Amino acid sequence: MDARSILRTKRDGGVLAREESEFFLREYVAGRIPEHFASALLALIFVRGMEQGELADWTRAMLDSGERLAFPRVELPKVDKHSTGGIGDKVSIPLTPALAACGVAVPMISGRGLGHTGGTLDKLEAIPGFRTQLSSVEFARCLETVGVALGGQTPELVPADRKLYALRDVTGLIESIPLIASSILSKKLAEGLDALVLDVKFGSGAFLVERERGAELARTMLALSQSMGVRTTVFQTCMSRPLGRKAGNALEIEESFDCLEGGGPSDLRELVCLQGGELLRLAGRAADLDAGRARIARALDDGSARAVFARVIEAQGGDPRCLDDRGLLPHARERERLTAPADGVFAWADLRELGLAITALGGGRKALGDPIDPAVGVEFLVDDGARVRRGEPVLELHHSGIGLDEARRRIAASFEVRAEHRPDPLVLTRSNA
Ligand code: URA
Repeated sequence: MDARSILRTKRDGGVLAREESEFFLREYVAGRIPEHFASALLALIFVRGMEQGELADWTRAMLDSGERLAFPRVELPKVDKHSTGGIGDKVSIPLTPALAACGVAVPMISGRGLGHTGGTLDKLEAIPGFRTQLSSVEFARCLETVGVALGGQTPELVPADRKLYALRDVTGLIESIPLIASSILSKKLAEGLDALVLDVKFGSGAFLVERERGAELARTMLALSQSMGVRTTVFQTCMSRPLGRKAGNALEIEESFDCLEGGGPSDLRELVCLQGGELLRLAGRAADLDAGRARIARALDDGSARAVFARVIEAQGGDPRCLDDRGLLPHARERERLTAPADGVFAWADLRELGLAITALGGGRKALGDPIDPAVGVEFLVDDGARVRRGEPVLELHHSGIGLDEARRRIAASFEVRAEHRPDPLVLTRSNA
C-alpha cells in the first residue's frame, strides 16, 4: 500500500478500504506522509464525498490515532453534547452542571472561537482563574469529584484531527460534510460516551447556512455516531438569530448564571431543558423526553445545577464568588447604543456580520492563537420580529474603543427593519432513527 495509490482510488471515484484509511492516517500522523499528499486527499474527499461505511472506517482510524479517555472510577452514565456553533450559543455552560445535578457524568471536550463563531473554552476562561487546559489526570479527577470536566483537546487526543483540521483551515477545505462529521465525532467518541446529543445549526450564523445542507450533516452524523454504538439524537436548531440576549465571552457567562438561577432568556432555557432532557432519556435516567425536560428544569430552578457549577469553577481553578458577585467578571469600559433606522419590524439579516463585529471589537480571533478581550460583546435590546420605532435603541455594544468603526459597519449589515418578518422556529427537527 502506498499514499499515491490511495489518492488514485479517490480520484477515480472509488471507496477507500478500511486498511487504506488506517494506513494513510497512521503514516500521516507519524510524519511519513507529507502535507501535500494529505491536502490532495482532503480535496478529493471534499469533492467526491464518502460513503457511509467508508466514513465510519475513516472516523475510526482518526479515533485510533490517539488515546481514548477512560474513567474506570466513574460509574454514572457518561453523556455529552456538541453544537456546530454560532453566536450567543452558551448552552453547554448551564447544561453541563444541570446534567450532573440529575445524576449523569459529563466529560466535555470543547473548542475555541474562530472567525464569526464563539467557543465554549473562551467563554469559560472569562471566569477569573478558570483553567480549561487540563491534563488527562486533572480532567479525570474533575469528572470523578464533581461529575463535570470542561477541557480542551490535548495533544494525545485524536492527533489526526489536529493535523487535518489545521490543514483544512489553510487550504479552504472546512465546509465538507464527511470531513466535518469525522472531525467532530472522532473527538466526541474519544470521550467514551454512552449518549450524545448533536445540535446542528441552520441559518446565516451557522457553519452550513442552508437548511438542506444542515439536514444532510445531521443525517450523516446521526448514522455515523449510531454505527459507533453511541445512543445519539440530533436536533436542527435556529442560528438565523443569536441565542439569548447577549453575545461575547463574559456577557455569555452572566447570561448562563441567570439560566442557572432559573431565569435568563427563554430560548436559552428551552434548549438547555430540551437537550438535557433528551440526554437523560438516552442515558436511561428519564422515562421520556418530557420527564427529562422537567427534571432539568427543576435542577435549574432549585439551585442544584448552580451549586454544581460553583464546584466545577472551584475544581478548575476559578473563583466561584463571581456567581454571587458579578462585579468580579470582566466588564467593558464603554457602552454604545445603536438605534433602529426606520419604523417597522426588527429582523436579523446576516448573523455572520454580527459575529465578525464581535471579533472586530476583540471578542473573537481571526487566526488560531490570537489573544481575545473577554469583556466586549453585544447585547440585544429587542427580539427578532419585534415592532420598533425609528430612533429606538435595538443593540448595545460593550467595547474598549478598539475596532469600533468596523463593528458599527458590520452590525449595520447584520439586521434590517422590514415591513414584515416571520422569525424561524427555534427547533426545526429532532431525529434519533
Ligand atoms: N468543528 C470541528 O471540530 N471540526 C470541523 O470540521 C468543524 C467544526
